[in-house]
Amino acid sequence: MKKRVLSMVLAAALVLGLLAGCASGKKDDKKTEDKKDGEIQVGIVLPTKDEPRWLQDQAQFERVLGEAGFTNQVLFSQGSSATEKTNVETLISQGIKVLIICAQDGAAAAAAVEEAKNAGVTVIAYDRLITGTDAVDYYVTFNSFAVGQAQGQYLIDNAPEGKDVPLYLYAGAATDNNAFIFFEGAWSVLQPKIADGTFKIENSSEAEALKDKTELSRDEIAKIIGQVTTDWDFNVAKSKAEANLTSVDGNAKGDVLVLAPNDGTARSIADVFAADKEIKSYVITGQDSEKASVQYIIDGKQSMTVFKDTRTLAADSVDMALSILKGDTPATDTTYNNEKIDVPAKETPIIVVTKDNVKKALIDSGYYKESEFTGL
Ligand code: GAL
Repeated sequence: MKKRVLSMVLAAALVLGLLAGCASGKKDDKKTEDKKDGEIQVGIVLPTKDEPRWLQDQAQFERVLGEAGFTNQVLFSQGSSATEKTNVETLISQGIKVLIICAQDGAAAAAAVEEAKNAGVTVIAYDRLITGTDAVDYYVTFNSFAVGQAQGQYLIDNAPEGKDVPLYLYAGAATDNNAFIFFEGAWSVLQPKIADGTFKIENSSEAEALKDKTELSRDEIAKIIGQVTTDWDFNVAKSKAEANLTSVDGNAKGDVLVLAPNDGTARSIADVFAADKEIKSYVITGQDSEKASVQYIIDGKQSMTVFKDTRTLAADSVDMALSILKGDTPATDTTYNNEKIDVPAKETPIIVVTKDNVKKALIDSGYYKESEFTGL
């Protein structure tokens, strides 16, 4: 991290140099004069403030860019693709050269990034891929397939003995390309256990109908997500879990397994399962290491989460932006096809967090302070 801050300070000096260069260069006098105070080089758009996850990223961006002496602007789309487009237009009008954007809706965001592209802005998709357009230059993300695999494997490793163990599936928003990759990862490890009768799906006839299929098409996953989506919304997750438990009999209760796509929805679903007298025990997954869920894990109310170090993701995307501002080609290590092009990408690994390694993974690594939790 120290080395990274140093490189950023150096890079900031370079960008400031760039700015200064503009000031000194004749040709650019006009441009420099036009640059109003507060004009920014890098604009950031995040989905919503209503989910703790994205406030983590905001904090990282402001810290990394602040330490590098950058003026920066983080705008939120508050769950609306229209607001997202307006945010992008605002940032373009402020002269950004690089846009770092986590799309509210991966397909709907294509129009906004095409506008940025036409304005000469380089577009970095952040965490979520933007699909169906060639206006995305780079992608910075976590290994989302590994997230789903880790969630599925955790359920297998912690399942009660016996056959027909009740399994409840929940997924993210259908507008989020990640939701498909998470589910694909989970299915890749859960499907054999479903097909051989170890696990029995209780809340999705579409998934049940596909239980003998190892690899699902995007359309097949879309059908399942259509039945079990939480829209990444805590209340949708709660009412869906309530409806699921109301519509099944005692055979589908007792000791159960729950695939919850992220922490916010996991807490809502866990509370519903914990309140059902016929549920003797539940194993439930999560993602994002949100503080409230870390406490749930310490208290035994949530079983695991997936640590996605947003310090790394924010720093990687700012690194990319600085390379771009320097006229260099950013480092990438894989590509993601977005149905139009293969987008060069930088992928960050994930860490499974349970009660046993909370301290090591989240406190010793400096992500959270011990004092932020009780019972640790
Ligand atoms: C996903 C993201 C997750 C999760 C979710 C809800 O795209 O990768 O970490 O937080 O959105 O916003």
